[in-house]
Amino acid sequence: MQGITKNDLIIRIGGEGGEGVISVGDFITQACARAGLDVYTFKTFPAEIKGGYAMYQVRASTERVYNQGDIFDVLCAFNGEAYNMNRAFLKPGTAIVYDSPSDFTPDIPPGVHAYPIPMTQTAKELNNPRAKNMVAMGALSVLFNIPIESLREVLTTKFSRKGEEVVQGNLKALERGRELAAALKKTDPWTIGTPKSKQEVIVMSGNNAIGLGAIIAGLDFFSAYPITPATEVAIYVAKHLPKRGGTLIQAEDEIASISQVLGASYAGKKAMTSTSGPGLSLMSEMLGMAFMAELPCVVVDVQRGGPSTGLPTKHEQSDLFLAIHGGHGDAGRIVLSVENVQDCIDLTVVAFNLAEKYQCPVLLLSDGSLAFSTQSVPCPNPANYKLVERKRWNGEGEYQRYKFTEDGISPMADPGTPGGLHIATGLEHSESGLPSYTSANHEAMQDKRFSKLKTVVNDVAPAEVDGNGTADLGIIAWGSTIGVVREALQRLRADGYNVKGFYPKLLNPLPVQQFEDFGASCKRLLLPEVNFLGQLAHFVRAETSLRPESYTICGGMPFTPEMIVNKVKEILA
Ligand code: COA
Repeated sequence: MQGITKNDLIIRIGGEGGEGVISVGDFITQACARAGLDVYTFKTFPAEIKGGYAMYQVRASTERVYNQGDIFDVLCAFNGEAYNMNRAFLKPGTAIVYDSPSDFTPDIPPGVHAYPIPMTQTAKELNNPRAKNMVAMGALSVLFNIPIESLREVLTTKFSRKGEEVVQGNLKALERGRELAAALKKTDPWTIGTPKSKQEVIVMSGNNAIGLGAIIAGLDFFSAYPITPATEVAIYVAKHLPKRGGTLIQAEDEIASISQVLGASYAGKKAMTSTSGPGLSLMSEMLGMAFMAELPCVVVDVQRGGPSTGLPTKHEQSDLFLAIHGGHGDAGRIVLSVENVQDCIDLTVVAFNLAEKYQCPVLLLSDGSLAFSTQSVPCPNPANYKLVERKRWNGEGEYQRYKFTEDGISPMADPGTPGGLHIATGLEHSESGLPSYTSANHEAMQDKRFSKLKTVVNDVAPAEVDGNGTADLGIIAWGSTIGVVREALQRLRADGYNVKGFYPKLLNPLPVQQFEDFGASCKRLLLPEVNFLGQLAHFVRAETSLRPESYTICGGMPFTPEMIVNKVKEILA
């Protein structure tokens, strides 16, 4: 199934890295969002800077959209490779806009609406070969009613830093593309819908939204080493943190970045790093230290295909084991995972609040699909977010940094506080922080550090239950897979299936009772996730009495709603 209605349009643009595919996708997304449509995008590109297949999918709808959709309604192919990659998805009713004459001659399947546009040739005629993508965009705007004024505006804004000549050259190519399309007869039904009402929204990627959430949360210090697909978090923070007096360091590697974060946290600052799987592996020892020394910190892991350097630009949800248990010894941490761009803002704030309150590392899991996905979200108001500060020492009596307390949380003293001298150490220590290796002390300290995490569940919104009553099948989903499951459930219900969903955002400590309650209301359970081993399914089996059936894929792409629908129908057949 393609976009649910004619008001729910999915356009896929494919071409070679360097041909400007990403720019076209970004411009269309911005223009649709400005017009008041709900947008959700997905892009995938090669690890190389130039060459290889780059793809951008824009879904624009008059209704709320939760994922990138199944497959496109409209394909725009810049070259033969893009056509071949998508040939199998061309169905009767699909529209294709393609470069012609070109290096390829497509064998258009019956029922597909074909619009040949001389993209390369026109750009050459205009003495502006780079502008091939703008010729294509002009054609798309006429054929599918993409708001042209907004397109002109975003084009001008984006290219203005490259100079007036570039702006004018591209505007000219855009208009020429429009003329070429206007001369063709439109035969397909696809068009961008008219929104019911216009909202104040911003369009952001998951990575930028995490950066924004951190700023709202009161981030003071950020250190990271660049790594795909997490780098944009650092780029966003680098742009905005210094303006509010914070500090950002690009460290020499991930071990240095987490170490600097712990140093800043010791100094009383809200501190954070962002990375991807390979970087998180390197950080695992220092995460143990953060737990041992009870230092608040937020670590963002934008997951990508692994293991090792794996598939740097591709999507996977395969760092859960590492996030929860990575490292030596029994080291605790809080693990949250985000579903969408809104969560990237909100749960980053929650991550800081939890880190400060529980004085421990908090890992926030995002993923490759969400990292680059742009979505429209209501403009956030920082005043609406409740911020939590760490428990600080009141200066009375003799200071003991790791004092046993009822809730396990010991007041912290910032360095320089009179009488508050203490060390942060990875060695087991006494209440005052001095090394102490007695059996009784180690057991008591481990108990203190783990016991304080028992109430974390009360500080995170309960996992959402999608549906009521007893279901024939319940789906447990995490991360960006949740958005896919939401739509799959809508479609299944429309087909008469009795199904429910469960969407936990807190993955460690696992909200066991919430899982048990959901499990008790479903005859069978399914847990789809984008990794080979079925990591959350393993964890749920270990921590609860539930035995969800695992459904895993790991091809570097997210699930589509159709895949989930088909799987459920197969199970319930
Ligand atoms: N006129 C002038 N400039 C144009 C243009 C036009 N008509 N169309 C695009 N451009 C510019 C863009 O503004 C952009 O410039 P910028 O980098 O200064 O912003 C550049 O050309 C690339 O275009 P864009 O549309 O953003 O990307 P693309 O579709 O051509 O794809 C990438 C190229 C981005 C996918 C690829 O180069 C890349 O970076 N791959 C990822 C590499 C990576 O992360 N590897 C990780 C290894 S661990």
